[in-house]
Formats: sequence, C-alpha cells, structure tokens
Amino acid sequence: MFEKIERVPGDAILGLIEAFKKDTNPQKVDLGVGVYKDAQGNTPVMRAVKEAEALLLKNETTKTYIGSHGAPAYGEVILPMVLGEGSPVLEAKRASATQSPGGTGALRLAADFIAHQLPGKDIWVSDPTWPNHLGIFPAAGLTLHKYPYVDADNRLDFDGMLAALKQIPEGDVVLLHACCHNPTGFDLSRDQWQQVLEVVRERGLLPLIDFAYQGFGEGLDEDAYGVRLMAENLDEVIITSSCSKNFGIYCERTGCLIMVAKNEEQMENVRSQIAIVARENYSNPPAHGGAIVSEILHSAELAATWREELTEMRGRINTLRRDFVEALKPYGLDQKYACVAEQRGMFSYTGLTAEQVDRLRDEFGIYMVRSGRANVAGFSHENLPYLAKAIAAVN
Ligand code: LMR
Repeated sequence: MFEKIERVPGDAILGLIEAFKKDTNPQKVDLGVGVYKDAQGNTPVMRAVKEAEALLLKNETTKTYIGSHGAPAYGEVILPMVLGEGSPVLEAKRASATQSPGGTGALRLAADFIAHQLPGKDIWVSDPTWPNHLGIFPAAGLTLHKYPYVDADNRLDFDGMLAALKQIPEGDVVLLHACCHNPTGFDLSRDQWQQVLEVVRERGLLPLIDFAYQGFGEGLDEDAYGVRLMAENLDEVIITSSCSKNFGIYCERTGCLIMVAKNEEQMENVRSQIAIVARENYSNPPAHGGAIVSEILHSAELAATWREELTEMRGRINTLRRDFVEALKPYGLDQKYACVAEQRGMFSYTGLTAEQVDRLRDEFGIYMVRSGRANVAGFSHENLPYLAKAIAAVN
C-alpha cells in the first residue's frame, strides 16, 4: 500500500534548521526558526531554569501520570501570569487551564474542541499568520478563512482587518495574536484592541488568542493587554499560551490551553470536554517543562531571576531592531526598513521578497523564511554590518 504514498516537502520553517547546519559559509547567519539567541548566537538555558531543574532532580519523588489537565501547580501559576494577578476572571472562577505539549498542542486541543463541540463554526486567521495555523485547524476538520493584516506597503492594515471582521458570520472563531505577531511583528495598539473587542462583541464572534511570546514585546503585563481586555469583557474566550520562548524551554513542550467561560458551571462543563480531547490526542502532557515553570513561579527568588533574564532578552532584541536600521543608513536603506525598529517580538516582516531571500541564502549564507520573515534575535552586533551589506546587494 505504501507504494502510492507521495513524498511532500518538509516544513518550511523547521527545514531551515537543517539547511543552515549544512551550509559551510563561515559568515552564515541564521534568521530562521523562532528561537532566542544571545550575542554568541547560542540559545542558552536560562539561569532560573537550570536552578529549578536542579531542585526538581533533587526533590522529585515520582514520574507517575499528571492527568489530562496536567499538574495543578502549573495551571495555578499560568492563569495569573496570563490573565493577571487578581483578575476578575479568576475571582469569578471562569477560567480553566490545561497543560499542553507546547503552544502548538494547545492550538490543536482548541481546534479539536471547536470541531467537536461547536460544529459548523469556521475559523478566521490573519493574512499572513504563523504557517502552522494553516495546517492545525484544517487538520482538525475546520474550514479556515483569512482576514487582511498587512497592506502592500508592508504596514499594519488595521482598517482592512476591522472591515473584514465586521463581515465574519456570527459565531465564527477569530484567531488573534496577543502580541509579537508571527510573522509580521506588527501589534495592535490598545485603542485598536478596543475596536476589535467591539466588533467581536457585536458579531458574537469567539476569539481564540494565540499568546506564544508573552514578555517579548513590551513586558509580561503589557503584552497581555488584549488577552485581559477580551477575557474581562466577553463571556467566552480561548487562549493558547506557550512557555517555549519566555522560559526558553522549547524542547520541553510546555504550553497551556485556557478556556474562559461565562461562569464557573459552564467552565467546568467545557473543562470536562477538554480532558477528553487531551486524552484522545496524547493522554497526559509531558511533565518536565510545566514542573520547571511552576518551580520558578512558586519561588519569589527564582521568579525574580527569570523576570530579569526575560527583560534582558527583550531589551537585546529591541536594541538590535534599532541597530539594524542604523546599519542600513550608509546604504540609504534605513527608511525602507524602518518598520523593523517599530515591530515587536522575535520576528520582522522585512518586506524582502522571496527572490531576495533566496539570493541572501545562496550568495551570503543568510537564512530566513521566504515570506521575508526574519528572526531578529539572530541579529548580532557582529553580523549586522555583513547583513546590511548583503541586503544592500540584493536591493
Ligand atoms: C517559528 O515560527 O519559527 C516558531 O514558532 C517555531 C515553529 O515551531 O515554527
């Protein structure tokens, strides 16, 4: 039977890891997959994580199953991190946390829940969005549509987005990026979030907010503005949170599906369904990443170290954004790429075309997604002059 199976190209983002490894150019630069890099180009284990792991190793007494919702101690710290300490949503016991294998796992749980429990509801995603969104929802059987997000001049097209949201059939699901929009780096202002809230309320839409980069934009609380606005003002919201980036525990697959319902009773009903979805997908989530996060956030000292490290990472990325634009000044390209300094998070939609991206790879060993998305964390003060020269050469 297998003789009929066709080979398909691998994932465009993950494929860059292999391609980069194979490149022998000593000046090669990796701006591909979204992982944080320090000045040496390494993705280090955070100090708080190392300390938490040492404690876990010493104190761990069992490796028994942690249940389909994951460890309660993990949910206990993720809910206030996402929804805010003292959130009225938490006071009202309207939110449920389910530990998931990464943010991707949370997205798939959400997709399966929608497919099974809200039949006939389609999902709307920004154009562009994280390419895996385009796979996850249809894989669960949902019909996916797009709303505009970026205009032809590589700027946030908020008017286009809002106009499209106003046309979405009542009750459909709209996927929003909480912050650090992947792939563009263009985020909504507070006033724009308010306008989106009004449309979502008017049309009775169900927001699904992908929150994979909390702490990488403006700050842990600042980045949660839209999430908290929606959760506090709407009866029903779905949030998919990830600890991959802000704790740097990518390979530990640590995410959370947060379901916000109208009241505690409805939340418990929804929660019971989520447990089934998790059970049918993978039974129990992996424990280690969640244990690291709860160890850190339950300790004032480790939490302070972690916040400091996260602030450092965010600061470094924002400095590199400005320095990238500066480096392009001698080539007269600073205005053209000024958006890089304005965007937030790990990614920038640079405006480079697929052909330019191909030339950067083939002629200079510079790797990024063909959409022109660059992982800004891959910039360094050492490689910026080389990058600027290469970009000038393909312009
Ligand atoms: C990215 O967009 O590069 C990251 O979210 C990693 C991934 O899984 O694609």
